[in-house]
Amino acid sequence: MTDTTSKKIDWTPNTALPVGKGATYQQSDATIGSDRLEIETTAWGEGDLRINGAEVAHVCDEASQLQAFQDLERAAETVENGAGKAKRDDADRVAESLRPRSGPSERRTLAMPTKPLIAVTDYVFPSLDPTMAALAHLDPEMHVAKSAAADDILAVARDADAILVTFAKLPAELIRQLNRCKAIGRFGIGVDNIDLHAAAEKGITVTYVPDYCVGEVSDHAMALLLALARKIPFSNKLVQSGCWELPPVAPIYRLDGRVLGLVGFGNIPRQLVPKAKAFGIRVVVHDPYVSQAELAAAGVEGVGFDRLLQIADFVSVHAPLTPTTRGLFNAETFRKMKPGALLVNTARGPLVDEVALVEALDTGQVGGAALDVVATEPLTGNSKLLGRDNVILTPHTAFYSEEALHDVQTKCASDVARVLSGEAPICPIKAL
Ligand SMILES: NC(=O)c1ccc[n+]([C@@H]2O[C@H](COP(=O)([O-])OP(=O)(O)OC[C@H]3O[C@@H](n4cnc5c(N)ncnc54)[C@H](O)[C@@H]3O)[C@@H](O)[C@H]2O)c1
Repeated sequence: MTDTTSKKIDWTPNTALPVGKGATYQQSDATIGSDRLEIETTAWGEGDLRINGAEVAHVCDEASQLQAFQDLERAAETVENGAGKAKRDDADRVAESLRPRSGPSERRTLAMPTKPLIAVTDYVFPSLDPTMAALAHLDPEMHVAKSAAADDILAVARDADAILVTFAKLPAELIRQLNRCKAIGRFGIGVDNIDLHAAAEKGITVTYVPDYCVGEVSDHAMALLLALARKIPFSNKLVQSGCWELPPVAPIYRLDGRVLGLVGFGNIPRQLVPKAKAFGIRVVVHDPYVSQAELAAAGVEGVGFDRLLQIADFVSVHAPLTPTTRGLFNAETFRKMKPGALLVNTARGPLVDEVALVEALDTGQVGGAALDVVATEPLTGNSKLLGRDNVILTPHTAFYSEEALHDVQTKCASDVARVLSGEAPICPIKAL
């Protein structure tokens, strides 16, 4: 380095440039004396380190990029502080360690390329083969957490480049401890288990898979509605116990002409509409974020929440779990429902206050409930929802089909691979 005693510092770190496959990602430079130091890297943290335009080293990963930045900053600070010989020696040593000895053949690699590290917090699939296939081109190192407890997740995710999550919770305090994570991929639709604000603060892209099981969940909601309205599980139980009679199952009402109220009108309930209509059921919808014109185009009638509760014989819940929708179905809501109406929930358990639901079932205000999701999963053995003839429970399996499991893995892992390659994901999701 020529003039290490000069105090002129011109340091411009992390100037963001357009991100894209192979594109320049960030450029940092410093002037120390008359020497200009530059690092230019891609999204992977790979790039070149130059002194006065001459390439002196190749940076292969983020760790070595960080080290090189720190070395340069230390050199810059040392010079700026104008300290004595020891510090100048330090600056000289850093500069010397970066300087080429004799032309391009001496260009050095600061680190060997590292494989991306991907942490899987939890999954419900028989194998991760579709995930591995979608990520194969990145040749990643995969680590699966021992359990969904925060410590076990951090053990594999703290230094991971990306995280794949199913139901495990990723709250703000966990996300803040991630050192290099660029992407969190949710194997599913609901993202209420991920603190999206904390992820955004850390610059982490969150992706989800909004379209892998729309048919399955709408089928499941319809199946639950039919089973509840036609009292199929109860009738089956009677026959299995030797009772072949009509009176115990009475009353059952005709489906044709009944009213189904959909709370939330996203992808899933939209596919439920033609299925319900095929049984002659009239469909009304409450979704504060969908216009009347859109509802009309979908062939449904938009109504206020209270009106829906008042007229619906069946209420099917499809809103996401947010601070606003938590406990949306509570004692007051149940009081407003048509007496004896049936409730179907395939969205998220905490949308329903279960203590209030049990009370409403006991009084008959709610005629029956079919729940694929409950407030605490798995359902505890002492739940008052168990052992009732007018309650049907399925273990959060509405999304499941063999095809859906394959699709969700492939789509989720492919989107995470896009982020790691510096490409835009297809399905990013942000906090509202
Ligand atoms: N049980 C399962 O296996 C399973 C599988 C997939 C999805 N889900 C759940 O199903 C739900 C619906 O999924 P989707 O794909 O239709 O969602 P989506 O994101 O396509 O649509 C959600 C809709 O809810 C509406 N909404 C938001 N707040 C509302 C409120 N306060 N009242 C009424 N509507 C409101 C939004 O405007 C949006 O139209 C989600 O909660 C998801 O977590 C469950």
